[in-house]
Amino acid sequence: MTPIYQTSTYVQEAPGKHRGYEYARTGNPTRTALEANLAALENGKHGVCFSSGLGAMDAVIRLLKAGDHVVCCDDVYGGTYRLFTQVFARFGMEFSFVDMDDPARVERAVTPATKMVWIETPTNPLLKVLDIARVAEIAQARGALVVVDNTFATPYLQRPLERGASIVVHSLTKYLGGHSDVIGGAAITSDDEIAQRLHYVQNAVGAVPGPMDCFLVLRGTKTLHVRMARHCENALRVARFLEDHPRVGRVYYPGLPGHPQHALAARQMDGFGGMVSFELKDDSLERASRLCAATQVFSLAESLGGVESLIEHPAIMTHASIPKAVRESYGLRDSLIRLSVGIEDVEDLVEDLARALDQAQG
Ligand SMILES: Cc1ncc(COP(=O)(O)O)c(C=O)c1O
Repeated sequence: MTPIYQTSTYVQEAPGKHRGYEYARTGNPTRTALEANLAALENGKHGVCFSSGLGAMDAVIRLLKAGDHVVCCDDVYGGTYRLFTQVFARFGMEFSFVDMDDPARVERAVTPATKMVWIETPTNPLLKVLDIARVAEIAQARGALVVVDNTFATPYLQRPLERGASIVVHSLTKYLGGHSDVIGGAAITSDDEIAQRLHYVQNAVGAVPGPMDCFLVLRGTKTLHVRMARHCENALRVARFLEDHPRVGRVYYPGLPGHPQHALAARQMDGFGGMVSFELKDDSLERASRLCAATQVFSLAESLGGVESLIEHPAIMTHASIPKAVRESYGLRDSLIRLSVGIEDVEDLVEDLARALDQAQG
């Protein structure tokens, strides 16, 4: 097993003469092992790890400067939206949020100042699937970098660098860690210059993960394939159950043939993932809230991607940092419920949802 190098500094043979490591913000062998592991999984050349997913995104945005413009997909993780609009917009960067279902809209949103196009696919929490190759083609023709947040799909199901993305970012906190016991982030690229700049930011800004956290993610990636296969299988069964339930309205899961981008998902991904969202037919916020509190196997909590199933209410929890009017403008309704379907016995999951749906009815 990769040792946990619980050290902050390294003995040097002579001033400036060391064996590859000087100080642990700059480099740590456990972190180096994780960075190589993640680069290999994404079929990239370089991995650069951070103390959280947002830490990784912060480093990627620091590749830009004041006056630069970013085109970002509209249905984006609330924390990403907050980082862009509340932190970096204050430093003179501009962000446009665009519905990218139709990649032509990306083309229209790009300006001479656009230096980056940022996508999440499947999106969080509406599980829209965006065409990575098409968006990459448009962005690259205008000289902009393409960043894909691959947290929901993981490299087991989707490898954006193979489709023209410049950088992949991850919240390692989710499926890659896989056990809800660590916070971490990573950026992966095959471009030597981008990698060098990201390593520079990693050291200069200092949002680095500790060695124990790197060890935990390394342990998580060993079972990624087995977990993801089961997440996909369970999620499809749960989505089908919800689709047939009389009190459930729209069900969002790319694996359902009725999903608007099902064909694209089948082409772009090797499976449809473990995330399922749904609305109640009567769109009642109160019932949605009651349902979230009524499940017993699904735990009510933020986050996703762990082996245990989670249920959450985006409008009140993960996406509360996006103003209600903005949320509603792109279809995130107040009654939307998001499930991170775990790897438990799927009949226990279905039974739990059936019981909670009855209970929420009152
Ligand atoms: C898609 C996505 N990207 C990034 C993040 C942020 O990652 P972290 O919480 O590790 O900072 C999250 C967190 O929920 C997420 O869902």
